[in-house]
Amino acid sequence: MSRVAHPAGPRHGDVLPADHPLPPPGDLNDLHPGVWPRGAGRRADGVLTLGGVDVRQLAAEFGTAVYVCDEEDVRSRCRDYLEAFGPDGRVFYAAKAFCSRAVLRWVTAEGLGVDVCTGGELEVALSAGVPPEQITMHGNNKSLDELARAVSAGVGHIVADSFEEIARLAYLADGATVRPTILVRVTTGVEAHTHEFMATAHDDQKFGFSLASGAADEAVRRVLGCPGLSFAGLHSHIGSQIFDTAGFEVAAHRVVSLAVRIRDEHGVEIEELDLGGGFGIAYTEEDDAPEVKELAQSLRDIVDGQCRAAGLRRPRLTVEPGRGIVGPSTVSLYTVGTIKDVDGLRTYVSVDGGMSDNIRTALYDAEYVCALASRSSSAPPMLSRVVGRHCESGDIVVRNAWLPSDLASGDLLAVPATGAYCWSMASNYNHVPRSAVVAVDDGAARAIVRRESLDDLLSLDVG
Ligand code: LLP
Repeated sequence: MSRVAHPAGPRHGDVLPADHPLPPPGDLNDLHPGVWPRGAGRRADGVLTLGGVDVRQLAAEFGTAVYVCDEEDVRSRCRDYLEAFGPDGRVFYAAKAFCSRAVLRWVTAEGLGVDVCTGGELEVALSAGVPPEQITMHGNNKSLDELARAVSAGVGHIVADSFEEIARLAYLADGATVRPTILVRVTTGVEAHTHEFMATAHDDQKFGFSLASGAADEAVRRVLGCPGLSFAGLHSHIGSQIFDTAGFEVAAHRVVSLAVRIRDEHGVEIEELDLGGGFGIAYTEEDDAPEVKELAQSLRDIVDGQCRAAGLRRPRLTVEPGRGIVGPSTVSLYTVGTIKDVDGLRTYVSVDGGMSDNIRTALYDAEYVCALASRSSSAPPMLSRVVGRHCESGDIVVRNAWLPSDLASGDLLAVPATGAYCWSMASNYNHVPRSAVVAVDDGAARAIVRRESLDDLLSLDVG
């Protein structure tokens, strides 16, 4: 791994803490407001409530492991983003973070568009009633069928990611009733300081058209050369879980210089500048996530400044947050099973879920916190590792957790900030059925994604 300094700062991997935990918090029952959903609290007797619902009731009704999503938290974050980027900017929810009809209805009701990156996500959005013109279609390898569906549904924007795709779109545009509107995805060469697998704009990866090689200029040329396609502007997404705006600044600078070349070469000013998503959230108390308002202000200032300097009309600014909308809304609720004290090291607490419902710890070294949820405790803290039920030692949910030393089998454990990229990356490893997602709001709970059953899994096995 390169440790050379980069314009966007150090990469996340370079600053990962060594594997020694932070000291225990003063009170293990505390719910840090930056990490827990806005509707989380504890009753007088210490039981955790989410959206006004007692977690013991949720566990009894829906079983564990279960994701509990605070609807008002999601909606309020939509409003935060709209307020921060509107009225002249647009906000599209990146459905890959968590794609269900209910959530897509909430976000569109709040005024957001939806960004999808596969035919599957597109079908969920269309079946949820998202107006097609408020959908942006992404993907680095969209099939002809997926593109045909997007074109015939009349999605608002299709983000072109390869030359083959531009040719396919030109072919499909021929018989289309709505003229496909195209954004060209630009690889700006910015190495966002985040985990390697979440950075998407350095040159050595699969997304977009490289600016450095001239491929981006050529892509725009080809789109403009197709009479059936309407060229709307440029798209750049530098990565995910990003905490400072330095990378966006470099990216915006480079995209605007392409926009200037487009104007000079073709006499066309871009209408849209989509800067993608990637805005970080707090997973632990240590994470100092930027305020959306400040983030928006600084992105607008960056784009304004770059356009002014280049003598370019400021295009409409679009952003595509996924994690920032749903990430903080959801808590994974587990039942504690076995508790194993590994002498002199730590206590292993096994729960009834694991890497099948949250792969992020194993995949990205992601850090989470957790708390005893079914009661409070004043017992002294014990250094724990929360692990799952899968047949693999990497099956870790929370690497370093401080939990009360009177923790017992049957207690409920809650892990916050699991709304993004947990259910959506869930698997059936070891034939564990996927967990339900339950929405809570104003004291009421309802499943928005049902729990998978063993019958569901067996029914796939047709051999
Ligand atoms: N727009 C584009 C083109 C994207 O590729 C992504 C995320 C987003 C928007 C939304 O980014 P967000 O605001 O959610 O950071 N599985 C990883 C994250 C992968 C993100 C992929 N693209 C994780 O669990 O952290």
